[in-house]
This record gives sequence, C-alpha cells and structure tokens, in this order.
Amino acid sequence: MSGYWSLSTLVKRKVLPGLRSQHLDFGCGGGGWPHFLGRVNRRLKIVGYDPSVPKIQHARSFNKRPNVQFIYSPEIIRSCRDHFSSSTVFFVLHEAGDAALEEVRHTLSPGGLVYVLDYDIKGMGKAEFIDFFDSEQELEEVHQLGPEAAYRLHTSRGLEECVAAAERIGFRTLETDVFDEGYFIWAGQKIGRC
Ligand SMILES: C[S@@+](CC[C@H](N)C(=O)[O-])C[C@H]1O[C@@H](n2cnc3c(N)ncnc32)[C@H](O)[C@@H]1O
Repeated sequence: MSGYWSLSTLVKRKVLPGLRSQHLDFGCGGGGWPHFLGRVNRRLKIVGYDPSVPKIQHARSFNKRPNVQFIYSPEIIRSCRDHFSSSTVFFVLHEAGDAALEEVRHTLSPGGLVYVLDYDIKGMGKAEFIDFFDSEQELEEVHQLGPEAAYRLHTSRGLEECVAAAERIGFRTLETDVFDEGYFIWAGQKIGRC
C-alpha cells in the first residue's frame, strides 16, 4: 500500500471500528474523508470542519450524504464543547501544530476518541523526500508552497511530537502505529472534561 488515498484501507481497518455516533473530521480539506466515512458507516453523523472557505464550498458542492455536513466557522466549532464522541485529524497536525489537538480536545465529550494520521518522516533527507512525496495531492502542495517550504513543513515533526503534545494537552494514548515507512497513526482518548 502506498500513496495518499490508498490509506483508506488502513482507515477502514484501524479507525472505522472506533468511530462513534457524533463524529468530527477536523481539518477535512475538500471533504474526501468525511464523505468516505459517511458512506462506509451510514449510522454516523459526521461534521467535516475546515477553516478554508473554498475547501468547504468544494466539499459542500459534491456532498449528497444526509449524514455528513460541512462547516468552516471556527466559532461554531469552538461552541461545540464536550460534544463529539469521536474525531479524526488526518494530515492536519503538521500544518496546524499542537493547537489543533487543543481545539479537538475542547470539542470532544469526556472519554471521546481521536485518531490522528500524519507523516512520520522527521529528519528524512531531501532526495528521499522528493521520491516519497509524490501523490497528486502532495505534488500540488509542493507547487503551492515551493519545494523547500514543503520539505521543512513535512519533515519537522512526527509520531513522537504528536504523543508528547497530546499527553500534555489531556489525552491518554490508546494505540500507535507506524506504517508504509512514512506515516503514523495515533489513537487517543480525552481525559476529563474541558
Ligand atoms: C493537507 S490538508 C488535509 C486535508 C484532509 N484532512 C485530508 O486528509 O485530505 C490540511 C488541512 O488542514 C487544514 N488546517 C490547517 N490549519 C488548521 C487549523 N488550525 N484548524 C483546522 N484545520 C486546519 C487546512 O485548511 C487543510 O485543509
């Protein structure tokens, strides 16, 4: 399994069984994951949130699922205190940093679950990065950010930093896994209330 979208197999196996009735996909981008999750489990009520208005407009334009809705307002998300029973944070942490975990914790109900999926290529050399970072979506990021910024952004943190931040912020680690020589998944549970 390689490439960005083939991760769907791993998500089905590792993430889907843990998702609960009220689910937040934090930093959903153009809406691919909420749409996928909503299709494979029609009983979930899913909110896809991303602060990018064009991305949410795009997500809304193709969404036909009654159990999936898309939001771009940070104020609405911040008002959802202790609300969602599970959440996913896919390829957001390297961009948004630890603040994303703080926001997600705020929205989760006590005991709520979070699954973080991201790159685990801290310290990878430039030549290897060029070889690794080659899906259509990744190449688009290189185009938008420039090669040097894309390299720095994706190779400056990984699983270790995620675990340290999450446990400091108020999550307990349930599971970690590194796969495909470049990605990690971390599952955690919110400790306490907001
Ligand atoms: C690489 S994209 C990943 C999108 C999607 N989760 C996926 O896996 O296809 C990163 C997304 O994180 C979003 N993002 C960046 N900073 C954020 C923040 N502070 N809060 C929520 N989303 C954020 C961006 O707008 C972008 O859509």
